Amino acid sequence: MSARIVVFGNEKGGTGKSTLAMHLIAALLHQGRRVGTLDLDARQGTLSRYIANRRRTREAGADVPLPVHLAVMPDQDAAAVAEALAQLAGNDVIVIDTPGHDSALSQVGHTYADILVTPINDSLVDFDVLAMVDPVKLTVARPSHYSERVWKAKQLRAKRDGGSVDWVVVRNRLGQLDARNKRQVAKLTAELARRIGFRTADGIHERVIYRELFLEGLTAEDLAFLSRRNTAAMSHVAARQEMRSLMMALGLSEAAPKAAE
Ligand SMILES: Nc1ncnc2c1ncn2[C@@H]1O[C@H](COP(=O)(O)OP(=O)(O)OP(=O)(O)O)[C@@H](O)[C@H]1O
Ligand SMILES: [Mg+2]
Repeated sequence: MSARIVVFGNEKGGTGKSTLAMHLIAALLHQGRRVGTLDLDARQGTLSRYIANRRRTREAGADVPLPVHLAVMPDQDAAAVAEALAQLAGNDVIVIDTPGHDSALSQVGHTYADILVTPINDSLVDFDVLAMVDPVKLTVARPSHYSERVWKAKQLRAKRDGGSVDWVVVRNRLGQLDARNKRQVAKLTAELARRIGFRTADGIHERVIYRELFLEGLTAEDLAFLSRRNTAAMSHVAARQEMRSLMMALGLSEAAPKAAE
C-alpha cells in the first residue's frame, strides 16, 4: 500500500483526536493530496459527522475539497478494517480516528499506523494515560496500559510487513495559565519519550477556531481558501500555522506546498 496511514489514538477521551484529525485532513486536502478517512469510533462518529457536515456545506455551494470517507462499526471485525483500508489504498494519505477507550477495532487500527499521533491535554491528569508517575520524584514509574498497547501494535505491525510505527505525542489545548504544571508535563514527556520510544511535536493551543466550525464541517484553512470571513484574525492565522507545523513534524508536508495565502 502506498498511502501513508496516520492514526489518531489515545485511550483517554476528549484529548482532541477527532478535532486534530479533521484539521489535518483539511490541511492535506488543501495541499492537493488525495485523502482517505476511516472512522473506527463510528458509534460516537465525531469524524464521520464532521465530514458529513462538510459534504453538506459543499452541496450548499462552498467549493471545499472532500476526503473519501468510510466507517467501520464496533460490531465489525479486523477483516472489515483491512477491507476498508484496501478501498482507501489509492489515496496519498489515510487518516484513521479511533475511540477514546480500549477497543478491539482501535487496537487493529493501531497496527496499521505508519504514524501514530497521540494528543494529550496539557495536564498531569491526562499524562497518566502514557505513564504512571511517581508523585514524589516526578519521574516515570512505569508505562501505562495504553503505552503497552502501542508497544504490542508496533510488534504486530513489524511482524505483518516489517514496517515501523512513528509514534508522535502532541500536547493539545495549551494555554497561558498554570506554567508550573506545563513545565512538569514537558519534563515528564521528555523522560517518557526516551523510555518508551515516542517523539513529540510542537503543541496545539486552545483556540475557539478549533471548535466553532464543526457544524459547517470546516477549519481555518477552509475559511482562508473560501475567503468569506475575516481570515486575517490572529487566531486563524496561528491555527493554520500550527497545523502546518504539525504536518511538517509528521513528515507529511509537500516539498513545495501550494501557497493558498
Ligand atoms: N486545541 C483546541 N482548542 C479548543 N478546543 C479544542 C481543542 N482541541 C479539542 N477541542 C475541543 O475539545 C473537545 C474534545 O475534542 P475531540 O472530540 O476532538 O476529542 P477526542 O479525543 O476525539 O474525544 P473522544 O475520545 O471522545 O473521541 C471538543 O469539544 C473539541 O471541540
Ligand atoms: Mg473523537
